[in-house]
Formats: sequence, structure tokens, C-alpha cells
Amino acid sequence: MQRTMHKTTYVLMAVAGICILLLTQWQTHSQTSVPSPCRDKKLALPLKDLDPVSDEAFFKGCDEFMEEETPDEGLGPVFNGKSCAECHSVPSVGGFEPNVGVARETRIGRLVDGVFDPLDGKGPGAVNKGGGLLQQRAINLSTCKQLTGEIVPQEATIVSLRNTTPLFGAGLIEAIPEKTITDRALINGGRPNRVFNPDPPPGQSNVLGRFGWKAQVATLKQFAGDAYLNEMGITNPSFPDENLPQGEPIPPGCDLAPTKENPNGLEDDGSGVQAFADFMKFLAPLEPQRTVTGGLDLFSSTGCANCHIPTMMTGSNAVEALNNKPVHLYSDLLLHDIGTDDGIVQGLAQGNEFRTAPLWGLSRRDRFMHDAKSNKIEDAILRHGKEALTAREKFESLSPGQRAVLLAFLGSL
Ligand code: HEC
Ligand code: HEC
Repeated sequence: MQRTMHKTTYVLMAVAGICILLLTQWQTHSQTSVPSPCRDKKLALPLKDLDPVSDEAFFKGCDEFMEEETPDEGLGPVFNGKSCAECHSVPSVGGFEPNVGVARETRIGRLVDGVFDPLDGKGPGAVNKGGGLLQQRAINLSTCKQLTGEIVPQEATIVSLRNTTPLFGAGLIEAIPEKTITDRALINGGRPNRVFNPDPPPGQSNVLGRFGWKAQVATLKQFAGDAYLNEMGITNPSFPDENLPQGEPIPPGCDLAPTKENPNGLEDDGSGVQAFADFMKFLAPLEPQRTVTGGLDLFSSTGCANCHIPTMMTGSNAVEALNNKPVHLYSDLLLHDIGTDDGIVQGLAQGNEFRTAPLWGLSRRDRFMHDAKSNKIEDAILRHGKEALTAREKFESLSPGQRAVLLAFLGSL
């Protein structure tokens, strides 16, 4: 009798156990079962050991990053891409631009009495030709048929192409303490860019620039707002003014979104910008493809590592996955003149200055330098002069065997 009692209890306990297990599984599943193409198809990888809250924000941001916008939602009137991922998707979401053969971004400007004028109506010439970045496409609607993408205006005497930069590991770059970067300037002669960041509270001048070819943007959030407006034509809290096509007023019927539900006339209330920023902050860096023995030593002895600093550390950070972590970026994030002058001024960066390009992820790319005009890593190296002249000469004097090792190393990153 007692034995049967025991048996029944065991069976009941087992059944209860299974029920609890099923229930918890169902709960966990229902928490993550919001359909997410990024999560379900593994289209992008978050930082290792990311906490669940940040992980959720990462995949939500990734889905936003992939979403194609329509004129109804604010796309245009002039724009370059319909989604962030249209330009940032190789080898996975957040990466480089799919191979279109050339850089498709064009920056323009001119000099007025020696001062750079981006032709945005606010520069020294006070002439508005649509600003320093062309939007090369226009929306096409039954109410808006006459609009065309922007072309280089006659007034622009400076024209520069811009290669797409990848976003892998961008949150780690953002988490490097400012002092780590500015201290480097005392050692290797580069200098920090200082820029205006319109994000509240309140907008600030003189902030350290970290992102973009000239380190012309301070934070990922700022870049997200900037790109949402300037690549896609979506106005948002920090970038509230629609781009004027070629500097001309927007024709009636070509800007649908502000007349819709949004009371302050903004096409994004800031939630889109925040989602992009979250995605980029938690996006994992690309891992090297293999190890190349002796590569890093040659990279250092040739002088490349003076600017392309192999590793920096993040500071203390509330997000554990960003807290005191090594960042293998191969950059000092400072401006240098290596002889690739494009005439464009951004923040303190002069025409001849560029941020030392981070080299992580090099193996997954086929176009190099700010203008995307080098199709091989070796060609990019041979374009180094001025501050990098000694390093280039050392590279040229390497034995064929050493050169092969160094190139294999770079091609493995
Ligand atoms: C039409 C192509 C295109 C689209 C669309 C686009 N980007 Fe980019 N992105 C670029 C190019 C080109 C650069 C390099 C710009 C520069 O420095 O001059 C860049 C650079 C960046 C950087 C700087 C990374 C670094 O460290 O240098 C960030 C961040 C970024 N984009 C985020 C976004 C986000 C977010 C969106 C969507 C709102 C977006 N981009 C849409 C082409 C594009
Ligand atoms: C004085 C600083 C400096 C030194 C030294 C230097 N570089 Fe660079 N490097 C830069 C800058 C700045 C850029 C970006 C220039 C541009 O796009 O116009 C760059 C770009 C590159 C690129 C292209 C990366 C990309 O994203 O397209 C490669 C590859 C590269 N460097 C490799 C090297 C190697 C190898 C050496 C040593 C032989 C070296 N660099 C030495 C500053 C330096």
C-alpha cells in the first residue's frame, strides 16, 4: 500500500515537473518568438556574451536596419538608399556595400576665399545647391514625377568619392575611452578630429570624432540620425530639416510624410535612429580568417602599427560585453595626411586629412581607401606617402618573401 502511494506521488511529481518545464519553455519561446528575420535567419551576429536585454535591442535594431522605407514613411524626396542594409550588407548585415564596382557616394564643395563651402547655404558662399553629399536618386510617384536625383552642380570645384565603411565592432570603437585616443596623438603625430554633435542634451561642439573617413561623426547615434536623413531622406529629432533637391524647394506632392500623423512634422520620432544605434553598438567584430605567423611582427617593424594600432581597450562600461574588452581595430582613430588629399573639410579635418582606416575585416572587402579606387590591399599601401612615406618605403624594400607574409597577414584580417 505504502509503495503504491509512493509510486503515485512520484508519477504526479514527474507530471508536474514536465508541466513546469513545458511552461517555462513556452514562456521563453514566446518571449523570443516575435518574428525577427535577423535572428531567425542569423543575418547578423551580436557581441559575444551579450545580456538578454541588449540582445533583444540588437535584433530589433537589425530588423529596422534591413527595412526598406517608402515615400509614405518619409523616404526622399531625394535619397541614396532605401534601407541601411542596401549599402551595409557584405558579408552580413552591417557590413560593406555589395559590389557595385565603384563607390556610389559623392561629396562635393568649393573654396570661397580659401574657406571650404559645402554648398549648403550655410557656408561662406551662402549658396544652397543641396549640400555636401549628393542624393543621387529621387522618389517617383503619381504626384511627383518631375524630380530627379542630384548631380554635381557647376559651382562644385571639389568632388570626392566615398567608399562604404563597415560597421562590425563599431560599439567597441565607441567604448574606447577618449583619453586612450587623444594620448596617442602625443606619440605618433596624428590629431583628433573635433566635431559638432547635434544630439541632446544639448547639441555640443568640439566633441571627439570617431566615425567616418575623416572621423567626422562623434557617436553611432549621431551617425544613425545623419544617415537616416542624408542617405534616405528621413527627418528625425537631431536632423529635422529635409534635404532640398539640388538646393531647390521641394515640389508639391513630393514630400508625403509630414502631412501624416506626426504632429511635429518629423518622419522618425527618434525610435528608428535609436534602433539603428543599438544594432551597431552590439554588432560583433569580424574575426580574422586564420593566423599568419610573423605577420604582426612585420606589420610593426615596417611602421604600419604606428598609426594602425593593432589593439586598444574599451573602458568600464555598463554593458558587460563592452566592459574592458580588447578591440583589435588596427587604427589610432586620429587624422593623418598620407598624401590622399580630396579637398573635403569635415569638422577640423582638412582636405588632406583622413582617419587611419581600421583594418579589421579587410579580408572580406574588395575596394579600399576613401575613394574605393584601390582594388587590392597592396595598391592601397602603395598610395601611402607624406606622414606614411617611411612606412611605405620600408614596405617596398621588404624581400618578396616578407612582403608576401605581410600581405597574407592583412588579407587574413
Ligand atoms: C547609399 C549607401 C549608404 C546607405 C543607404 C547607408 N550608408 Fe552608412 N555609410 C555609407 C558610406 C559611403 C559611408 C562612409 C561615409 C564617410 O565617411 O564619408 C558610411 C558610413 C557609415 C558609418 C560610419 C562607420 C565608420 O566607422 O566609419 C555608420 C555608423 C553608418 N554608415 C551607418 C548607417 C546607417 C545607420 C544607415 C541607415 C540609416 C546607413 N549607414 C545607410 C553608405 C551608406
Ligand atoms: C601615418 C599614418 C599611417 C601609416 C604609418 C600607415 N597608414 Fe595605412 N592608412 C592611413 C590612413 C590615414 C588611411 C586612409 C587613407 C585614405 O583613405 O585616403 C590608411 C589606409 C590604409 C589601408 C586601406 C584601408 C581601407 O579601409 O580601405 C590599408 C590596407 C593600409 N592603410 C595599410 C597600411 C600598411 C600595410 C601600412 C604599413 C606599410 C600603413 N598602412 C601605414 C594611415 C597610415
